[in-house]
Amino acid sequence: MVAGGPPVPADDDVRFLVRCEFDEFRRYYREAGWLPDVGEVEEMIIRRDPDALIVFRVAGRIVGHAIWHGSSTREMRAGDPRDANDTRILEGLLGGPAEFAELHELWLVREYRGKGIGRRFFDFFEAFIRSRGFSSIIYYAFDPAAVDLCRSRGYREAYGVETVGRMSYVLCLPLLKGPGQA
Ligand SMILES: CC(C)(COP(=O)(O)OP(=O)(O)OC[C@H]1O[C@@H](n2cnc3c(N)ncnc32)[C@H](O)[C@@H]1OP(=O)(O)O)[C@@H](O)C(=O)NCCC(=O)NCCS
Repeated sequence: MVAGGPPVPADDDVRFLVRCEFDEFRRYYREAGWLPDVGEVEEMIIRRDPDALIVFRVAGRIVGHAIWHGSSTREMRAGDPRDANDTRILEGLLGGPAEFAELHELWLVREYRGKGIGRRFFDFFEAFIRSRGFSSIIYYAFDPAAVDLCRSRGYREAYGVETVGRMSYVLCLPLLKGPGQA
């Protein structure tokens, strides 16, 4: 996909870095205008586990980020139960009750979209999550680019869980092949 704005950065110029000093992340977040500030839940996730934050840097500048956390078909995070519809959809995708890594938030600054950075992020993220011992990734997405990108990477999908007031797709990538899996 070709887009205007800055040139397509060379592979070596784009870095996906686990952890970021929180004040720098907050400055980028406010400047990018995602929301007036980092959400309370997102800040809690990052403070509990600094590895939950991955920033995308081009020539040192933060141009995007992802936040992830461990999760299960029953609870979003410890003590935060999922509703019955959500659990049913997840169990359908995962073949029963399971634990997984949830990609909680993914944003790329608009001027850098359509230049292959999202695809490179997923290459990095899937390998990183596999190295952390998880056997699948779940991502709730409503953005057409995010859904299209995951489809092209072979994510399974379901539809119909409400997240932040919008109906979302539930995208699922199994990372390890178990008995009986192709
Ligand atoms: C999803 C996102 C990370 C993709 O990053 P990106 O760098 O723009 O994507 P890429 O350039 O790597 O494109 C990879 C694939 O994504 C899909 N894609 C990208 N832009 C698209 C668009 N505007 N419409 C449909 N599909 C698109 C295509 O399948 C594309 O493959 P192709 O180039 O072979 O056609 C980025 O668009 C983004 O941040 N979107 C907002 C996400 C969001 O809503 N976050 C809030 C909720 S968590």
